[in-house]
Parts: sequence; structure tokens; C-alpha cells
Amino acid sequence: MTGKKTFYITTPIYYPSNKLHIGNSYTTVAADAIARYKRLSGYDVWFLTGTDEHGQKIQRQANEVRKKPKEFIDPIVDWIKELWAELDISYDDFIRTTEPRHEEKVAKIFERLYQQGDIYKGKYEGWYCTPCEAFWQERQLVDNCCPDCGRKVELVAEEAYFFRMSRYASRLMEYIEQHPEFIQPESRKNEMINNFLKPGLEDLCVSRTSFDWGIKVPFDEKHVIYVWLDALTNYITALGYGEPGSLYERYWPADVHLIGKDILRFHTIYWPIFLMALGEPLPRQVFGHGWLLLQEGKMSKSKGNVVDPRVLISRYGSDAIRYFLLREIPFGQDGTFSLELLIQRINTDLANELGNLVSRTVTMVERYFDGILPVPAGEEEPSDRELRELALDTPARVEKAMEDLQLSNALFELWKLVKRSNKYIDDNTPWALAKSETGRLRLATVMYNLVESIRFIGVMLQPYMPRTPQRIWEQIGIADRSDLHSFASLTRWGMIEPGVTVKRGEDLFPRLNLLHELRRDQLPEVDAREREEGKEEGLITLDQFHQVDLRVATIVSAQRIEGADRLLLLKVDLGEKTERQVVAGLARYYRPEELVGAQVLFVANLKPVKLRGHLSQGMLLAAIDEDGTPVLTTVGRAVRAGSRVS
Ligand code: ME8
Ligand code: MG
Repeated sequence: MTGKKTFYITTPIYYPSNKLHIGNSYTTVAADAIARYKRLSGYDVWFLTGTDEHGQKIQRQANEVRKKPKEFIDPIVDWIKELWAELDISYDDFIRTTEPRHEEKVAKIFERLYQQGDIYKGKYEGWYCTPCEAFWQERQLVDNCCPDCGRKVELVAEEAYFFRMSRYASRLMEYIEQHPEFIQPESRKNEMINNFLKPGLEDLCVSRTSFDWGIKVPFDEKHVIYVWLDALTNYITALGYGEPGSLYERYWPADVHLIGKDILRFHTIYWPIFLMALGEPLPRQVFGHGWLLLQEGKMSKSKGNVVDPRVLISRYGSDAIRYFLLREIPFGQDGTFSLELLIQRINTDLANELGNLVSRTVTMVERYFDGILPVPAGEEEPSDRELRELALDTPARVEKAMEDLQLSNALFELWKLVKRSNKYIDDNTPWALAKSETGRLRLATVMYNLVESIRFIGVMLQPYMPRTPQRIWEQIGIADRSDLHSFASLTRWGMIEPGVTVKRGEDLFPRLNLLHELRRDQLPEVDAREREEGKEEGLITLDQFHQVDLRVATIVSAQRIEGADRLLLLKVDLGEKTERQVVAGLARYYRPEELVGAQVLFVANLKPVKLRGHLSQGMLLAAIDEDGTPVLTTVGRAVRAGSRVS
């Protein structure tokens, strides 16, 4: 056994009722970043995730496709594991509630609680929300629907077992009040107290008889154990609860249960009470984060308005997706996912700020010092000191943010150093220094400091973006130097030795064209492989070329779009009955009035998309000049609107 401090973190176990979406991925990515951070900080970490496989919802969905529940969920669970692999989720264990190690323990726990008198037999009459797998009293319903998810509830009347919640309510209340860190963020704590504990806790129905996909009550096999009692115990069954010398003894109580705010009630009321009944210590913290929303509202597997994370990963890479999730949403609050926001983060933070810093620096070391990191020379100047002090200060700031689970703040702090480093380049104008002999001495210092600062950034990036640091280290010549990758190596400035060879690599994050990305059919489930197939030789047949309906369009009108400073809304004449509407990213390059009357080459059979709420029915073709300026492709003389181009 190690003498290290332990840290146990969990995610919810997800229902494998459908593929997971970017919202579920959010929790797991956050947990992974925390787990990695703690490992790098020297903790003995255990990181658990898994799947919640029983219950009426799963059984119904399996029935719909005429499959046995297990048959139905197995491929989904495989898919989920592939997703976590693609997202570099470093879990230590993955528990499935259909595994014997779990089922056997849950049955035992149930029996014990029954023998202790915490569970008794009675009759349940009330309402049930199957998507949430939650019981409700009539008075709790909102417009006769589930107060949590707003969907229809069903009347249930069956013989059932109950858990005497009332026995533990006041002890729980006391515990919550004495442990302000237990429910986080703070605001959620008051919600739990005021909405559930204060009005008085009803006994909880903990078995069902109307379906059988669950763990049987061992002494009364007509009943299956309520799926939430089954699911919540995963946090201890996965550790081998009850076995001498088990991981349970090493890691329990959990340091953090990371969950979405939707299931806070189950984790801060039922779960602690079950644990109290078992005589076990309570988790130190339950953190309920906010929602990742789409512009149309909350994402939900059962609503179908989801974004497939694997499509996003194959397009943009897992590090970019992870960065977006962790950076964009203040942890605890709700945030929005949209392709526009994602592309913006990639272009601004990752391409312009981080990527440019690395490529500019490495290119300059190659150009001015043949790729050999020079020895810093001369006195430290104020800008050097500022950079050094900020770099040395950043680990503590990041740590503070991580202690509070403020993941986006941690990245915000780290990005201050990225920005500061870019500013350091602009302040010191290396290209000017390179021109004189004395300037070159100073230039050596500037280059050294930049590379060292990039090393700091790479080291601190590891928990959030597991792939990028390695790519950075390759470029700055320290890929094999694990001693220079540790958090401990950030306590001193100047650890990287002059003389290492830097090597310009591919851009870390190539800039993306927003319009181009938006046009990619609004995130279809395209397998990246499909697109790869045609690419083999890079050649197309004439037939393939003719699939593109190229025409000459006459621009009839053009106007700006409020709130979108890059876009123009155009009406074009294609010789058809009605004009077409097109959204084009030209606002920075053309004034609306200079476009009217122009004849431009036009792709007429592009699938229409909505951009910023405006339908776009085609695409104008432009030549992209060296500096990225689009120059519209016109025709040599006026032709009829709609003329074919071939
Ligand atoms: O509730 N934004 O499973 P589940 C952010 N099996 N997070 C989201 C999200 C969104 N739009 N949508 C889902 C269950 N989540 C139970 C849990 S635990 C003992 C049993 C995340 O598949 C968030 O963490 O419905 C939420 O709590 C979880 O997915 C719900 O996943
Ligand atoms: Mg759910």
C-alpha cells in the first residue's frame, strides 16, 4: 500500500438506453480532468464510471425493438466505452449494474436493511415517472406531469417495500448543516433543504412488481429492487464493499460524486440516508453541475435533440471538445453548446492563442538559432520578470480553482499565461532584435523564456487536454524528458536546458472556417470513414463533378444581419420562379451596396441550412486570396441569370 493521500471520484452511471450525447460526456470529461489533476498532484486516485442497466425504462425500450434487455444494452455499453476511449477518459473501473459483483451485493444490502427494520412491506399508490425512474405524490406533480422533466407520469398501485426515510431525516438535515461543503454549489443545498427536507420526508418506495428487469428482492422474488437503490450503491459495490482488504477500505468515503443537477435529490437525500442505515460514512461532497443546453433547450436522450459526441470528436479532435466543455461553461452553471461557440473557441483560444504561440516561438528559434535553444544572456528585464512571475504563480492559481472544482477558472488562469506569452513576443519584437549583434543577445533570452513558458503551459494543460502537451513537447524538444513534464518541475523557472533542439511540427489547431463547418449538414451522423473512402486518390470522375450544379447567380439584394458581424443576407436570381436566399460570410469584405447586380458563380444544389436563423439555399463561390480575403468569382461578361457553368 502507498502512503499517498487517496482521492475517490465518480460520475453518474448512465442509462444505456441510447447513445450518450455531449451533455453526458460533459460530466465524464469534467471528472476525468479532476482525476488527472489529482493524479498529477500526487494523489492515489480512484475514478469510477459505469452504466445503470436495470429499470422499467430500459425494459420498455428493449421491448420496443423486440430484444431482451441485456441484448439491447450490450452494444450501447460497448459504444459508450468506445466514446470514453476516444475522449481519453482515464477511469480506473467501469461498473455495470448487471454484473454479479454488483447484483449480489445489492440483494444483500436490501436484505440487511429489511432485517434491521429500515425496509418494511406495504402498498404503493401514486405516480411514477419512467424516464426519471422517480416516484411522486399527486401534490408534487406540475400540470399532472413530472416536476423534474415535465413528462407524463403513470399511476402505480402495487404491493411494495418501503424505506423508512423519516427515521433519518433529522440526522441528515443536521449533517448537511454541519458540512457546508457536502452539497455544492451552495445554492443547490438550499434547494434540497427547502424543497425536500423541510416539508418532511416521505418513506420511499423501494421495490416494483409491474416489471421484472432488475435485481430481485432475495426473500420475495415477485419484487425487483427499485432502480435508484440499485444504482446508487454502485459507488460502493464497485469497491468491493463488505470484503476485507477491499478497495472500499482504501477509498471510501468518496471525495466527490460528480453529477448533473437533475439527480441531486437522489444523491443528497436518498443516498446519504441509505449509507446512514448501513452505518457507513457519507461522501465528502456531491457536486451538481449545470446543464449543457442547445439553443432549442435541454438535450435529452429521450427527446432526441442531441449532439453526437463521436461525430464531433472525429471532426475536431477530443482535446478540442474537452477544452470547449471545460472552458466554456462556468462549472455549476448552465451553458450553451453550439457549433458556432465551439468553432469560436477552437479558432480563438486554441488556434490563435495557444497554437500560434507555439508555432511562432518554434519557428523563430529555428530561424534565428538553427533550432537550438540558446542560453539566456544579460540582465532580466521587466517583461522577463513579469512572465517568469506569472508562470511561477499560475500553478497555485490553477490549484485553487481546481480545489473549488472551478474547472473553467483553472483554464482561464492558464490562458492568462498563454496570452501573456503572446504579449511578451509583441513587446519584445524578436524580429527587430534579430537585426543587430547586441539585439541577438537579448533575443536569446526572449526565446529561452518563451520556450520555458510554453513548457509550463504544456505541463499544466495535461489534465484538460491529454494529447496536446505531448505534441508541444515534441516541438520544444523535451518529449522524452518526463522530469520536465511533472507538476513538481513547475516550482522553478529555468528547468529546460539550453541546447535542446526544437522542431516545428504541424499546427496544433488549424483554424476552421465557421461557415464551412456550419454547412456540414448540421452535424449529421456521418462516419468519418465514409468521407475518407472517396479521398483515396484525390481524383473525381466527370460524373462526380457534374453532381455539383454550378450556375451564375445575379445578386438582387444584400443586407447586414443584426448581431452577426461577418454575415450578409443576400437574395439572388437564378432564373427560377422565386429568388433564393443566401447567407454569406462576406460582411467584412464587401459593402452590401457594391454587391447588388454582380453575377457570381453559384452552387445551386447544396442542401439548404439555417445559419443564424436564416435559411441559406446555396453558396457563392469566391477565390481566397493569400491573406484569406474572399474575392467573388464573376463572369467575363453579363449572361442570363441561372446560366449553367461547366
Ligand atoms: O440519471 N448537460 O442517468 P442518465 C449536462 N442512471 N449534463 C448532462 C446533460 C446535459 N444536457 N444530460 C445528461 C441517470 N447529463 C441515472 C444516474 S447515478 C447513481 C444514476 C449528465 O443517463 C448529468 O451528469 O440520465 C446527469 O446527471 C446525467 O448525465 C444523467 O444521466
Ligand atoms: Mg436522465
